[in-house]
Amino acid sequence: MTTATATDRKGPLAALLGSTVGLKVLMAVTGLLWVGFVLGHMVGNLQIYLPMPADGIHPINKYAAMLKSTGGLLWAVRLGLLATFAAHVWAAIKLTGVNGAARPVAYREKRFQVASFSSTYMRVSGFAILFFVLYHLAHFTMGLTNPADYARHLDNGMHDVYAMFVLGFRNPIVAVLYVVANVLVALHLHHAVSSIFQTLGLRTARYAATIDKIGPAVGVLVAVGNISMPLAVLLGLVGADVQ
Ligand code: HEM
Repeated sequence: MTTATATDRKGPLAALLGSTVGLKVLMAVTGLLWVGFVLGHMVGNLQIYLPMPADGIHPINKYAAMLKSTGGLLWAVRLGLLATFAAHVWAAIKLTGVNGAARPVAYREKRFQVASFSSTYMRVSGFAILFFVLYHLAHFTMGLTNPADYARHLDNGMHDVYAMFVLGFRNPIVAVLYVVANVLVALHLHHAVSSIFQTLGLRTARYAATIDKIGPAVGVLVAVGNISMPLAVLLGLVGADVQ
């Protein structure tokens, strides 16, 4: 009765977002969208390994130009990513508050528990990823950290994303930062992806064993794919043609 009255007063969406279940579902759905982006983004970036074609325009430059040519669609995706990222972080902060409020008096003795370890590293890796994304946008999307690399254009006026990418990762500090950040992204996904299925009620007894392997598999895939790129540039395996 009390719940129904509160729901009537707040409206169903506000009531849902005021509940632990609603916040967890919000985290799961927004997290899933970002997993899709991270995987798609990685596949797009792996084009860095393609050889330079005869026309001298690297495939990653054509890919970046194609994305930019979508104009309104690109901006819709960007705004969607921003909104889902903000909602994910907001729900994480609220859930931490909810969990804390459920036990206003702290445990006298903190025993190591698997659950508390994973929620701590989710929080720590989550905030580290937030700072990485802000740096990453300043680096590659806005050209604030390396303006000379960002300013590189081909004779036909196309943005030289290939040269920007290679010059960025030739700096060992930048390459190592990307490696560390992507280890954290991989660890975050390792735990998160299976728990998305759990939250959405899809981890049924029949498929639990398979679903529990998806998170680690996505984590390993992202770790290998994303860490290989800065390392390949740093080791001179990619981009030797960039002056
Ligand atoms: C080694 C790993 C990564 C590399 C080499 C990389 C590379 C790039 C490049 C080159 C761009 C600019 C594209 C352009 O200007 O056309 C970009 C944009 C972006 N990256 Fe990454 N990225 C990596 C990992 C990540 C991760 C892990 C995330 C998220 C957690 C991420 C989120 C973004 C976002 C949100 C953008 C902006 C997209 C836009 O302009 O709309 N990146 N990345």
